[in-house]
Amino acid sequence: MSGGSATTEIGMIWAQTHTGVIGDAGAMPWHLPEDLAHFKTTTRGAPVVMGRRTWESFPEKYRPLPGRQNIVITTDAHAAEQIHERGGHPVASLDEGLELASGFATERIWVIGGGQVYSETVTRGIADLAVITVIQSPASGDTSAPALTADWELTRRDPAVGTHQGANGLQYHIETHRRKPEMTETSRATEAQPAAPNTAQAAPKSAPQAMPQSASQATPQGASQSPDQASQATSTNLMMLGLGGYLILPFLALFTVTLGFVLVLNDRILPGLAFLFVAQLWVAGGLWAHLKRRRLLQEIKEARGSTESPETPGARG
Ligand SMILES: NC(=O)c1ccc[n+]([C@@H]2O[C@H](COP(=O)([O-])OP(=O)(O)OC[C@H]3O[C@@H](n4cnc5c(N)ncnc54)[C@H](OP(=O)(O)O)[C@@H]3O)[C@@H](O)[C@H]2O)c1
Repeated sequence: MSGGSATTEIGMIWAQTHTGVIGDAGAMPWHLPEDLAHFKTTTRGAPVVMGRRTWESFPEKYRPLPGRQNIVITTDAHAAEQIHERGGHPVASLDEGLELASGFATERIWVIGGGQVYSETVTRGIADLAVITVIQSPASGDTSAPALTADWELTRRDPAVGTHQGANGLQYHIETHRRKPEMTETSRATEAQPAAPNTAQAAPKSAPQAMPQSASQATPQGASQSPDQASQATSTNLMMLGLGGYLILPFLALFTVTLGFVLVLNDRILPGLAFLFVAQLWVAGGLWAHLKRRRLLQEIKEARGSTESPETPGARG
């Protein structure tokens, strides 16, 4: 980075639809509280650098975002004055913003948008890390995520396969991308002096937790699984669905249907019909397990494909 300490890492964090939309008409065209919580947790305590339009996209009560030094890039003197009055730090360029951020003696600086600022950050090879929440949403918009190029690699996906489901039903997952070490400015600057591993703020290779974007981010926190835990959970799910769908439920259905017929043939019509009805439920359950298992297998296949070609995160979809 420009002027930062040798151990300061610069990360970008954003949320996007699976087609790469990050904003529309000055806001994010979805509502995903889990992502806001993730953003808050991830960036808390670190300086955040943003463009003036992103600052203005925050609800007033989140200007500045609490618990973080808010550095806002603007060339507009009036806007700069207002930012300053509210407790933010106006700066005239991205370089100036990063310089100021590095002065806050932190291990990590977060670039939090929007489109124009992400684009400059990526184009100039300034950041080492990108934490991206990918939301399965059909929303369209006027601002897009930057395209990460081949010098970036996917280092983590949460969950490893499939998606999380937000409380409001939106499906999403979180990707962590890193620039390959030889490509990063930070690594060049620290070549002779390797950075010590971070703990609280820097959650490197195996463990960043991503997060979302914008302003109102203020909420709880979703526990995320490690890739290993996620794979284990997936294997267990597959096994349970197979056991239930192909063995237990068919057996129960057969047993119940037989019992139902026996009762009906012995003139115990009502109990017999009840058993036959229950048998249908077992059959429906078996069918559901089969379909669910098939979908899970498909997701695993897709996830393998995306992990093998990690260089196009922002544009994925
Ligand atoms: N999904 C997400 O995670 C996420 C995150 C952040 C933002 N967003 C969305 O993104 C949209 C805003 O993005 P945007 O691209 O329109 O605007 P932006 O990048 O937030 O801000 C652009 C403004 O910042 C200033 N600026 C940026 N780079 C500069 C530079 N190098 N030198 C001087 N000034 C510079 C300029 O302000 P002046 O015009 O004042 O000079 C410019 O107009 C909103 O819809 C927002 O909701 C989404």
